[in-house]
Amino acid sequence: MAPVFSKIGIIGGGISGLAAAKQLSHHHPVVFEATDSLGGVWKHCSFRSTKLQTPRCDYEFSDYPWPQRNNSSFPSYVEILEYLYSYAAHFDLLRFVRFNSKVVEIRFVGERKTADYGSLLPGQPMWEVAVRTDQSEGVQWYAFEFLVICTGKYGDVPNIPDFPQNKGPEIFRGKALHTIDYCKLDDEGTTQLLKGKKVAVIGYKKSAIDLAVECAEANQGPDGQTCTMVIRTLHWTVPHYSIWGLPFYLFYSTRSSQFLHERPNHGFLRSFLCPLLSPARKAVSKIIESYLISKLPLEKYGLKPEHAFEEDYASCQMAILPENFFAEADKGKIAFKRASRWWFWEGGVEFDDNTKLEADVVMLATGYDGKSKLKAIIPEPFRSLIDFPSGMMPLYRGTIHPLIPNMAFVGYIESVSNLHTAEIRCKWLARLVDEQFKLPSVEKMLQQTTKEMEIMKRTTRFYKRSCISTFSINHSDEICEEMGWTSWRKKNWLAEAFSPYNSQDYEEEK
Ligand SMILES: Cc1cc2nc3c(=O)[nH]c(=O)nc-3n(C[C@H](O)[C@H](O)[C@H](O)COP(=O)(O)OP(=O)(O)OC[C@H]3O[C@@H](n4cnc5c(N)ncnc54)[C@H](O)[C@@H]3O)c2cc1C
Ligand SMILES: NC(=O)c1ccc[n+]([C@@H]2O[C@H](COP(=O)([O-])OP(=O)(O)OC[C@H]3O[C@@H](n4cnc5c(N)ncnc54)[C@H](OP(=O)(O)O)[C@@H]3O)[C@@H](O)[C@H]2O)c1
Repeated sequence: MAPVFSKIGIIGGGISGLAAAKQLSHHHPVVFEATDSLGGVWKHCSFRSTKLQTPRCDYEFSDYPWPQRNNSSFPSYVEILEYLYSYAAHFDLLRFVRFNSKVVEIRFVGERKTADYGSLLPGQPMWEVAVRTDQSEGVQWYAFEFLVICTGKYGDVPNIPDFPQNKGPEIFRGKALHTIDYCKLDDEGTTQLLKGKKVAVIGYKKSAIDLAVECAEANQGPDGQTCTMVIRTLHWTVPHYSIWGLPFYLFYSTRSSQFLHERPNHGFLRSFLCPLLSPARKAVSKIIESYLISKLPLEKYGLKPEHAFEEDYASCQMAILPENFFAEADKGKIAFKRASRWWFWEGGVEFDDNTKLEADVVMLATGYDGKSKLKAIIPEPFRSLIDFPSGMMPLYRGTIHPLIPNMAFVGYIESVSNLHTAEIRCKWLARLVDEQFKLPSVEKMLQQTTKEMEIMKRTTRFYKRSCISTFSINHSDEICEEMGWTSWRKKNWLAEAFSPYNSQDYEEEK
């Protein structure tokens, strides 16, 4: 059967896929979503206690404010899903979405040009897409002029560590599972799994921290056991968005605070100034570190990272601590074990310092392998370009791979608010598709992506997380300029210098 031909296909129905569907709605895109739900990670990677950790006014579509947007509490994952469904219903986006439709293969059927990127809607099929549904055994083929890949950087594919032979979960007498499987349990299932059990949580990032607290809560009382967090790398954690009484955004999210940081394409004066501003950048990081050390028992528990706070911020790794995290540690319900290597033994987990931890349950809060989702569907020769040149995706404006024709990627280069960034990039993409402006040459795009990656490398050892948080306003400025919008969008100079930028600053220009 000949493939069904449409202009634009979107793969994924998380926030990135929704943002793309809304901005490209005039082209009637087809959105393939593998599961029966919108929301991606918010539906499939959330625990009972999962909340947004970005303030709600920063995780908001520009034309669809949260109800009670000034409420400073963080919405639960259920509220986030309600917000996303309500957005989809309001803008009639559900008509584009095909649920339970997993893209299992993509073929390039166009002509590959290298000198320039070419037209995004050339009027003929460029990609063919094989979709597997619950209803039929085989696959249905579709053809598109342009594809937007929104399969998510997290979720779906767990990152499972490699173990030496005979030291993997197969020899463990207890239960070992990844957080993605824990997310599938209901309240009763999680309590049954954790209550009265010695639990080892592998990891020390947001999933691990939230899980340790859920574990401690299920183990209250004299019969409760301890949950031990196995930590390979220490990271800075933050109790709330206020530092020495000042709002957190003042340190990194305003034009004046980002002035201290490197950005791509800065002029001669700034390239001269930037090294001179290095002590000021270090001072900002130190102010925050001193607050965190004074406020949290990091030294007592041996949890003070050696790297600067800025490195965690610049790699989008800043985790907000649940309120009772250290209270539970003080009660002995959460303990910490530093280890660079570990493996299983029959009764639990063994470490490279020859010590052993007894455990009934080992929870792998080891994150996700989102790249493998891309690699499973993007065909060669393009698959090899995904990680080119240094394990990072070179995406122009966080969206277009200069060497992969007629395809955009949304949701892979992160910021402090991934929703805000996904939306503004999709606004840019929609105008690009409509030829309101043209892409620069492939060479110029590669130069830009190289500059951005070099800045990330200079700012943080965790650069492979691909995060633009220290130059996010500049990133949006460049996007606005390319779209022909004003980039300085505040009402006056004071606000321009000291108030943070969020989605509402980028409402459509009338
Ligand atoms: C638990 C958790 C909490 C987070 N909290 C925050 C936060 O507070 N603030 C923040 O800014 N960021 C947060 N993030 C980062 C988060 O990943 C982004 O904010 C955002 O939700 C990602 O959306 P996405 O659409 O890019 O990807 P996803 O949400 O992963 O959506 C991808 C969608 O694609 C579908 N899909 C995948 N492969 C295929 C295929 N082959 N065919 C068809 N469909 C496919 C999936 O089913 C999924 O629905 C969090 C991440 C996690 C895991
Ligand atoms: N809003 C929320 O409340 C919320 C909740 C959960 C997750 N999230 C987001 O979801 C994303 C994924 O978070 P995540 O915590 O699931 O994953 P993650 O950020 O990738 O963290 C994985 C953790 O596992 C550790 N790890 C990985 N392999 C290991 C190994 N072999 N041995 C020991 N430790 C190992 C990592 O240590 P190293 O640091 O040494 O690599 C890290 O501590 C992040 O963006 C996060 O912010 C948000």
